[in-house]
Amino acid sequence: MIINNSDDFVLEILEFHKYTKDKLRKLLLKNKLLVLRNANLDFAGFDSFSNYFGVPEVAYPYKYQALGFETIRLQSNVEGKGMNGGGMYWHSDGPQTKEPSRITLLSCEEAPLVGGETVFCNLSQAYSDIPEDMKLRIEHLEGNYPCRQIYVDDLIEMGLEPETEIVNSLHNLKHPLVKIHPISGIKALYLNENWLKGLDGIPKEESDELLKYLYDFATEKKYLYYHKWEKNDLLIWDNYSLMHKALDLDSQYPKTTRRIRIKG
Ligand SMILES: [Fe+2]
Repeated sequence: MIINNSDDFVLEILEFHKYTKDKLRKLLLKNKLLVLRNANLDFAGFDSFSNYFGVPEVAYPYKYQALGFETIRLQSNVEGKGMNGGGMYWHSDGPQTKEPSRITLLSCEEAPLVGGETVFCNLSQAYSDIPEDMKLRIEHLEGNYPCRQIYVDDLIEMGLEPETEIVNSLHNLKHPLVKIHPISGIKALYLNENWLKGLDGIPKEESDELLKYLYDFATEKKYLYYHKWEKNDLLIWDNYSLMHKALDLDSQYPKTTRRIRIKG
């Protein structure tokens, strides 16, 4: 059974196991965010299900991989249950590689009673609505992503030791400000409040002003969906069409999730 949300980029699916791999892939391409309910998958089930959507990445920091499953990252605000922190800014997952992570799967093992929602923003719709003169202005611009430095800074801020092998694999990258989806060909803004540090070749003041305009434009309420987590929700989203961020969570409310990213 499929329930269409009023948000036209979000599709809630009950009994997902009745759908074929092809059907789920098509629905994701069309809707951009799938909300699967009661997806009670163990690590092995989650790992193999992720292959429906492409090739899973190796998760890092390595210390937060699920035991025996290098593609699954454990995340939690409960001590000892996973990585705590990060992601509380607008971003698409995985800008650290030349071809950023295409898709993310995030499953909820423990849902907080209050807070900790994830907000999603429809960047392809926002791009489509931008005035034509602005589209012309931004069409060929690229953003600077000094990934190694940001990764090191983020981990230190979280009180974690950056793993040398990962740090050495990260570089300064440029990503287009307007991304063309490799399958649908639909254009979307590609933004990131933490990893994107200015537009390449544009004076800082002008770059800041342009980015502020784009963030303000894209995060208008009409482009957003707030997901209130329930235990065993499994969300699957397209990082080339959406950005997201986690909302504040009081430490008295446990939240534990498992994440797999699919290569771009
Ligand atoms: Fe994220």
